[in-house]
Amino acid sequence: MVSYKELGLVNSREIFKKAIKGKYAIPAFNFNNMEQMQAIIQACVEENSPVILQVSSGARKYANQTILRYLAQGAVGYAKELGKNIPIVLHLDHGDTFELCKSCIDFGFSSVMIDGSHHSYNENVILTRKVVEYAHRYDISVEGELGVLAGIEDDVVAEHHTYTQPEEVEDFVSKTGVDSLAISIGTSHGANKFKPEQCIRSAEGVLIPPPLRFDILEAIEERIPDFPIVLHGASSVPQEQVAVINNNGGKLKDAIGIPEEQLRCAAKSAVCKINIDSDGRLAMTAAIRSTLNMHPEWFDPRQYLGPARELLKALYKHKVVHVLGSAGKA
Ligand code: 13P
Repeated sequence: MVSYKELGLVNSREIFKKAIKGKYAIPAFNFNNMEQMQAIIQACVEENSPVILQVSSGARKYANQTILRYLAQGAVGYAKELGKNIPIVLHLDHGDTFELCKSCIDFGFSSVMIDGSHHSYNENVILTRKVVEYAHRYDISVEGELGVLAGIEDDVVAEHHTYTQPEEVEDFVSKTGVDSLAISIGTSHGANKFKPEQCIRSAEGVLIPPPLRFDILEAIEERIPDFPIVLHGASSVPQEQVAVINNNGGKLKDAIGIPEEQLRCAAKSAVCKINIDSDGRLAMTAAIRSTLNMHPEWFDPRQYLGPARELLKALYKHKVVHVLGSAGKA
């Protein structure tokens, strides 16, 4: 058993409390490799923001759980070296079994998500409760999910949304003992969140997607006031990055995300964790494609991963300062 506390990590309980009170959200950025971790930590140290480093099942398969844990441990030391002891959470994103959550808990993660949203309500309650009972023995926070997000994220695929039913949240939270709840109000995983025909076109030709279901969020907040709410699938899919990718040989079609103003609104509510993965993928790909196009003679990975890390860092700083409002809150 490795204790996250000995690694210098924190669970999410205190930072969520502060975020709800202060009306901002904590960034939960996914990472798979060293450059992403460095960009996240540099951005959050420079902006003095708490941060959640997230590991998806796909990340575990790609990079290996042991390596990612050590990268997170390295992140703690790296942040101190850069001059700030910011709160860093190491979180399992979309754990789908008790065994997977247990393996992360035993190995130094400070927070896990058990996503039982694809099961029946009762099965979701039973599975989530089991993870909570184990995790709380070690003071590890647990995120559960009610409602299903559409979209694709690694192995998590769903064709359609099932919005969270506000009538279920009180019962779910009290029966499971979860520390936070991911809800479905119209966000979705991936870079293709909406079809163009679902959007309206502004005078400038920009596609504007349908608004998030803030009515559902409000109804949830009424039933469980000040309970930490999580938004998955919250990438905004910046059109500048999509254009850079497509102008440099990429073929991204109909890439549409969640407008930042809507996320800013959500961050001011009980939504205190906002998950962003796809925007980081887009930034990295944009930087790598354009760098290699400009310098076809380059073959040292540092020559294109370096600019990718810089662009990622700029993206994360932007999110922390202008979207989530967590800058200065470490
Ligand atoms: P995006 O695909 O919108 O970045 O969502 C990521 C996410 O929710 C990770 O759990």
